[in-house]
Amino acid sequence: MSASWQHCASCAQEIPETDTHARCPRCQGLLEVRHPAPATTGAALRALFDDRRGGANHRGPYSSGVWRFRELVLPTAADCILTYPEGNTPLLARPAVSAWAGARELLLKHEGHNPTGSFKDRGMTVGVTQARRIGATAVACASTGNTGASLAAYAALAGLPALVIVPKGKVAVGKLAQALAYGARTLVMRGNFDRCLELVDAASERLGVYLLNSINPFRLEGQKTIVFELLQQLDWEPPDWIVVPAGNLGNTAAFGKALGEARALELISRLPRLAAVQAAGAAPFAASFREGFARRHRVEPHTVATAINIGNPASYDRAVRAIRETDGVVTAVSDDEILEAKAVVDAAGIGCEPASAASVAGVRQLIRDGTIGTTDRIVAVLTGHILKDPMTVTFYHQEREPPPPRANRPVEIEPTLSEIERELRACLTT
Ligand code: F0G
Repeated sequence: MSASWQHCASCAQEIPETDTHARCPRCQGLLEVRHPAPATTGAALRALFDDRRGGANHRGPYSSGVWRFRELVLPTAADCILTYPEGNTPLLARPAVSAWAGARELLLKHEGHNPTGSFKDRGMTVGVTQARRIGATAVACASTGNTGASLAAYAALAGLPALVIVPKGKVAVGKLAQALAYGARTLVMRGNFDRCLELVDAASERLGVYLLNSINPFRLEGQKTIVFELLQQLDWEPPDWIVVPAGNLGNTAAFGKALGEARALELISRLPRLAAVQAAGAAPFAASFREGFARRHRVEPHTVATAINIGNPASYDRAVRAIRETDGVVTAVSDDEILEAKAVVDAAGIGCEPASAASVAGVRQLIRDGTIGTTDRIVAVLTGHILKDPMTVTFYHQEREPPPPRANRPVEIEPTLSEIERELRACLTT
């Protein structure tokens, strides 16, 4: 099979698939991985992917919801794939969530069901596979938490040393705990995520460490499979909208690339529209969108959704392309809206971390302002697991004053049967 290659989106330089630079060596622009055309398209390619999803693939790479789409991810990686496996995440329908958002058909693609609890595993299986292929001696990333957790786990699987740099005091406890437990050398830095990324980017070039932030184009190849998998779960009948939380914009970019490829290969016959949702306190991409992308904004970010507390998104250019090519939109929702959406998703028995709920809050807002129609078919992506950020849950339900409308306060009781009976009666009447 002929190799893929890397293409610089800024200067059109082409470099080999196995080049070790994280950016274009000529102009420092962002790279994109391009693959040779698969042997088949349309129904035959759908059948190939559907066949791999069937019962015979309990083991091996095709049991992964990433590597099942190998031809569109990294075709030549066959014999050195490093996989848990990951992906195969559920597409959930919950009437309470749809009703809150005002949607007739809202499905939730729950990426929190990945091995380390976030969508990052889809990109990391490809990124760390690539790190091994090029003989990297160490891997590194800056992170708001999930990338670090995922990198730490996959590096442990590969037997590679990992360096994770996180902003001090701005990472949810579950994520930091994971990076430490999986054995990454974890550097806690004063400053915000954007500064962490600048530093690790420079360090990787200078110190020869393989950079595995979503700047790395191989990460995005893996993240594309969120889209391929949800299309497959819908029997390749695309929804009208795919809604995704947006921070560093890796996912927005990956989704645009995935949809373009799915359309070009006739896996689908029309393009869904993308909606990228930011937290209002960290919404430089939404500000640019409002101005028709006339200029790039940078902000000092502040949001309760620490995963997307990002002021200068690295994949800005790629994400602009994704929004333009899918006739997409970008919006921002307040922290209160995010926390209310999260409380609704949580109380439906699903659960997600705060940043994930931005997508559901975004659906409600876009329906209210008439951008999304009430009868449109919508898939919202939940990017991370509820247990990533237990402190936010504790604060919302137990500590916030006055209690928010959906707070579920614990009730302290005396050790008597009558107290339990009283509470049971209260349960049955509310
Ligand atoms: N949701 C979660 C749970 C995330 O962890 C992230 C990003 C996003 C959404 C935003 O995705 O950056 O592709 O636009 N987390 C990164 C990290 C930045 O370091 O874990 P994006």
